[in-house]
Amino acid sequence: MSDSDLRRLYREEAPRAPEGRFSLEELIEGSGPLELDIGFGRGLSLFERASASPQSRIVGIEVKTKLAYKVNERLQKRDLRNVKILCGDAREILKRSEPSGSVDRVALHFPDPWWKKRHDKRRVIGEALLTELARLMKPGAQLFIQTDVEHRAQQYAAQLRETPGFTLASASGYIEDNPFDARSNREKRAVEDGLPVWRILATRD
Ligand SMILES: C[S@@+](CC[C@H](N)C(=O)[O-])C[C@H]1O[C@@H](n2cnc3c(N)ncnc32)[C@H](O)[C@@H]1O
Repeated sequence: MSDSDLRRLYREEAPRAPEGRFSLEELIEGSGPLELDIGFGRGLSLFERASASPQSRIVGIEVKTKLAYKVNERLQKRDLRNVKILCGDAREILKRSEPSGSVDRVALHFPDPWWKKRHDKRRVIGEALLTELARLMKPGAQLFIQTDVEHRAQQYAAQLRETPGFTLASASGYIEDNPFDARSNREKRAVEDGLPVWRILATRD
């Protein structure tokens, strides 16, 4: 297949969210905890989380069509039915998501790989996303963010302090270990290379 045919395949076949407002709870059968993995990239965190917590219903959101398509293909091959992929910008998808107060856990592993000031608008973690997460998360639900960029970690902790409805797990905001028993591809690489990782946990009030 030519590159342009592949691009069209990814664009047309990557799984999308239903049109309009839709229910996260109806995406996956069952009644287990509802979890979001935002920007899952090559998808290791989805597979590890599905295995660590088979009762959870895990919704992965990824903006890149190729990654969403390929990870979805691997999920289907393994017949992993407790994970559902939605391709698109998480900020737009979550704005249309219902019901409020339904989500138990949210992970953002190594988000926002852009550094230039002019790319600020692309950053997924910001007021728009945090406001929707605060709406969608249950009281007591956990939001976990990790990054290998210290100043980004500081920004994320500061943004969470400013967002009504969240309390950081410690005064600094940082925790030692990933609490979800599911490594992302970037986390696995950083740990193997001995690089520091800043991990932040916040709870929905
Ligand atoms: C640096 S990668 C990290 C991938 C993976 N979470 C990991 O830790 O290995 C950031 C990922 O977030 C995705 N992403 C960035 N902005 C997004 C958005 N607005 N909505 C959904 N995914 C987004 C990117 O396409 C990319 O796959």
